[in-house]
Amino acid sequence: MQRIPDAIQLTDLANEKLADLYAYPPDPERSWLRVNFVSSIDGAVTGTGGVSEVLGTPADKRVFHMLRELAEVVLVGAGTVRAENYGGAQTDPRFRSALYARGIGGHPAGDPPPIAIVTASADLAPDHRVITTARTPTLVLTTAAAPTARKRALADAGAEVLEVGDHLIAPQAVPAALTARGLRRVLCEGGPQLFGSLAGAGVVDEVCLTTAPLLTGGSARRISVSHEEFARQMMPAHVLFDTDGTVLTRWVRT
Ligand SMILES: NC(=O)c1ccc[n+]([C@@H]2O[C@H](COP(=O)([O-])OP(=O)(O)OC[C@H]3O[C@@H](n4cnc5c(N)ncnc54)[C@H](OP(=O)(O)O)[C@@H]3O)[C@@H](O)[C@H]2O)c1
Repeated sequence: MQRIPDAIQLTDLANEKLADLYAYPPDPERSWLRVNFVSSIDGAVTGTGGVSEVLGTPADKRVFHMLRELAEVVLVGAGTVRAENYGGAQTDPRFRSALYARGIGGHPAGDPPPIAIVTASADLAPDHRVITTARTPTLVLTTAAAPTARKRALADAGAEVLEVGDHLIAPQAVPAALTARGLRRVLCEGGPQLFGSLAGAGVVDEVCLTTAPLLTGGSARRISVSHEEFARQMMPAHVLFDTDGTVLTRWVRT
């Protein structure tokens, strides 16, 4: 029988210990795909205004930033980039190189992880801050069928444009394209369509879920949506809580 992990108070954890709790496997030969979301108690993925900002408690923000410090690449769907105020990852060079030296994530030279955007249409503004503020060039994972002018404009603005499908992007092609570039420690920040598609294809290794201490009602979606239903068994790796009632869980696939 599986033992449910004891809940740990987040404020008791120094950053190094928190990083250990979210360590990626050492030297993964294949990609390790971690997904991170925040939702309300009643399961909403967005609050007021169709964005997740109201759900982001201080505890959620702390773990959100820690996961970026650990990641080699931050993967996100174009719908989230279009809805949220996305920019390049702001990480701490010294902390990232220390994480790398410990073999749990980060980057040898402390560089920030690139943002990798999944978009079949390449319908992204070339002057979007996710491209213009990125210290490590943003990757645009798109298709051969996307308009050439859009792809050229994104490349001219500094993005690296990769064609990973003909008309559609198969979910398995996403981690494969990142692995081909040596980016194995993947942090996917949503949204629900991208997560549903990756989970449906069985390529998600773990889910980090913050439950914000809020009820929101309304008609917001869940953290994953897909055409097909599926049942993937996950095991709890840890449970953290904060004094404001935020609960942070980490679920790893069995
Ligand atoms: N609470 C949270 O933690 C959290 C996290 C993230 C997002 N959100 C919220 O979620 C909403 C956006 O989510 P969303 O589901 O609409 O968008 P999404 O999953 O971020 O992006 C969907 C888009 O990804 C592209 N795509 C290409 N291939 C795909 C594939 N195989 N599978 C899935 N997507 C693929 C398509 O872009 P093209 O149309 O360009 O081809 C598609 O429209 C926003 O309201 C955002 O605030 C909340």
